[in-house]
Amino acid sequence: MPEWHALAKHREQLGEAHLRELFAEDAGRAARLTVKVGDLFLDYSKNLVTDETLRLLRDLAVAADVPGLRDAMFRGERINTTEDRAVLHTALRAPQDAVVTTAGPRGEQNVVPGVHAVLTRMQVFADKVRSGRWTGHTGRRIRNVVNIGIGGSDLGPAMACEALRSFTARELDCRFVSNVDGADLHEAVRDLDPAETLFIVASKTFTTIETITNATSARQWLLDGLGADQEAVADHFVAVSTNAAKVAEFGIDTANMFEFWDWVGGRYSYDSAIGLSLMVAIGPDNFRDMLAGFRLMDEHFREAPVEANAPVLLGLLGIWYGAFFGARSHAVLPYSHYLSRFTAYLQQLDMESNGKSVQRDGTPVGWQTGPVVWGTPGTNGQHAYFQLLHQGTQMIPADLLGFVRPVPELSPRLREHHDLLMANLLAQGQALAFGKTAEEVRAEGVAEELVPHRTFRGNRPTTTILAAELTPSVLGQLVALYEHKVFVQGAVWNIDSFDQWGVELGKVLAKRVEPALTGAATAEDAGLDPSTASLAAHYRALR
Ligand code: F6P
Repeated sequence: MPEWHALAKHREQLGEAHLRELFAEDAGRAARLTVKVGDLFLDYSKNLVTDETLRLLRDLAVAADVPGLRDAMFRGERINTTEDRAVLHTALRAPQDAVVTTAGPRGEQNVVPGVHAVLTRMQVFADKVRSGRWTGHTGRRIRNVVNIGIGGSDLGPAMACEALRSFTARELDCRFVSNVDGADLHEAVRDLDPAETLFIVASKTFTTIETITNATSARQWLLDGLGADQEAVADHFVAVSTNAAKVAEFGIDTANMFEFWDWVGGRYSYDSAIGLSLMVAIGPDNFRDMLAGFRLMDEHFREAPVEANAPVLLGLLGIWYGAFFGARSHAVLPYSHYLSRFTAYLQQLDMESNGKSVQRDGTPVGWQTGPVVWGTPGTNGQHAYFQLLHQGTQMIPADLLGFVRPVPELSPRLREHHDLLMANLLAQGQALAFGKTAEEVRAEGVAEELVPHRTFRGNRPTTTILAAELTPSVLGQLVALYEHKVFVQGAVWNIDSFDQWGVELGKVLAKRVEPALTGAATAEDAGLDPSTASLAAHYRALR
């Protein structure tokens, strides 16, 4: 595209321009390169861009028809072409009177009434569990909720239960089991009383081997613990799925199944019924506040002009660094203990969506697509990998997330930590952008041979995202911000951000490898290559 070439040329002209100069030359930069959306304040002034860069990036977004594809998504068109599906996670937070139609089994259908019907059922269920009216097989109230799911059926609710921990009913213990490693389920239930434990089996397809294996073992644990028959299962197991037949086959009454739809991608599903465990934990009102936060960002994404559109800006900045600065990864660094799972959640959202190397029509891309997304909460990361961020050879753009106020339940003494926490966030952005010159180091009297070691080149871009407090609505706004950022990038890269064929091969091969490990099949029958056959032999010898 000419717009891409214009950016390449502009990048050459920008050369080694330093953020120090960009700020020195432009008094209004800090105030101008910001966006306020709902409760979020985004400062992108510490990015390696000029007004011209931003203009050219916007031209690219328009030329790639990001607005057109966005509107097609909101309209319910089948933009996930390789799976021939609509992409309508935005309908999950649409108001009750909205009309969002897409082609269903009975022709064009408004999906919003179905969304709200399920939300109401979830609410009734969550209230029952929270109030103690839902009892286990022996009549005891439920005190533990264990979500069994993986990927999009785990990461979202697990992240959000942690993020909103201070909003949860503390008397309920919510746990998450995802890994097929038996240790995960073992550790999750070893100190639980089955009589007080409810399992939510969350799986869009209800065929995912990890989830079905864990759910089957959990059912056995329950029956063993209660000394009860199959009837007990109904009191201790509910399901969240799009696949009623498989749920019934597993032995869960479909009356206890919460539905969602094939137009909700797994990694875009935690505000669907997949969020049932979260709703039980935080209560329906907080869940609805979270949905309102998502909706606010949806409306912004849909309506704000390209130049003031937060997800568009974040998406374009990532494209800029990947294509023209050789950035291969993107760090998301929340200065919030409660957001400890946030980046793990984003890894699936971003990398499963945009880790692609063919365009929509199947031809290879000639440009870099999704980056590696990584990061852990500040300030911990500062004492681990920040050295590389500051002085390593790679450029790693980072988002710094923080909140002005700590959660209200902290004691006055612990609230006092907060200024220090946030001072670290701001200081890191400052250090990464502006660094410390050799002259500044020398002026401190540092011995000449140490000067190169103690110099910080700076010019490492960050975007700072601040909100007053981490509330359910703010969490919804943040997640939708990243959902749409990922969308924008996929649209410009011309890839299908909503399929995930790349996870299939490993799943298929695991099924073939397993018999070779147990001895049920020879390495040859299992089709193992020489290296894998040798590893399997080693495993069997020690098994
Ligand atoms: O990892 C692949 C994947 O299909 C994800 O996209 C999905 O979130 C996860 O597996 C779990 O799938 P399900 O909800 O169908 O169990």
